[in-house]
Amino acid sequence: MKIALVGFGKMGHMIKQIALNRGNEVVATIDPIATDADVKAKNASEIAEAVKKSGAEAVIEFTHPSVVLDNIKALISTDIPVIVGTTGWYAHLDEVKNVVKSKNASLFYAANYSIGVNLFYKIVKEAASIISEYDEYDAAVWESHHNQKADSPSGTALDVAKKVMEGMKQKTELVIGNFDGKPKKEQLQVASTRVGSVPGTHTVYFDSVADTIELTHTARSREGFALGAVVAAEFMANGLKSGALKKGETYTMTDLMK
Ligand SMILES: NC(=O)c1ccc[n+]([C@@H]2O[C@H](COP(=O)([O-])OP(=O)(O)OC[C@H]3O[C@@H](n4cnc5c(N)ncnc54)[C@H](O)[C@@H]3O)[C@@H](O)[C@H]2O)c1
Repeated sequence: MKIALVGFGKMGHMIKQIALNRGNEVVATIDPIATDADVKAKNASEIAEAVKKSGAEAVIEFTHPSVVLDNIKALISTDIPVIVGTTGWYAHLDEVKNVVKSKNASLFYAANYSIGVNLFYKIVKEAASIISEYDEYDAAVWESHHNQKADSPSGTALDVAKKVMEGMKQKTELVIGNFDGKPKKEQLQVASTRVGSVPGTHTVYFDSVADTIELTHTARSREGFALGAVVAAEFMANGLKSGALKKGETYTMTDLMK
């Protein structure tokens, strides 16, 4: 399959390697700064034009939260399935889904492409619903990432918190960062640390007077994210060709996972 990459930074390079290893062709790498990118473009419409010209059958976007929304809007006008890895734009998700529908485009997005993290979501939800039967347990979410990460908390931490809240009905309010005073019983805190080169660690604490139950997912490298993004691109291009997937729809990891 022919793949175009928008954003040729740490993730873009790793995705290229994995795409090639899986027998795909990378027909364009587009980035305003990376010296080894095929096309130097910054403007979203220029980027979309370069993707169209490349003959790509799927385009994978890993850039920066400040540009991702413009890129998505331009790329979904190309009639090529768009796979987005950049986080930090989900407040606009409904708006984007409507544009995808109205343009009969196809979009795949995930705050975390790692298969392990998506298993972790299921485990956390199940654990939270078991523990919610025991009123003495409180819960919290903590995440740590490298000091180059632009958004905070991570999109993954917010998804983990969503899973805790789906399982634990007593947690109804999300608190990002610090509490202003003592926490209320219904509040679920999501705390972040930015340090060094951590590829991504997410922990859920279930805490009682007697003990703590900790569930942690630790990413060992970025490879798991890159592999997931390439698998998603294959899933979209093949699924649209075979008719298993429909245009006008927005897909995510729950559609891809067993
Ligand atoms: N969803 C996931 O599983 C997942 C996993 C890892 C990283 N991410 C996210 O992916 C994004 C990229 O991560 P990274 O580690 O590769 O960052 P990076 O800083 O190494 O690379 C980003 C690249 O995007 C380029 N860029 C900036 N503006 C651009 C534009 N308008 N058009 C094209 N390229 C542009 C930069 O020049 C840079 O080379 C971040 O938002 C990160 O949080 C998501």
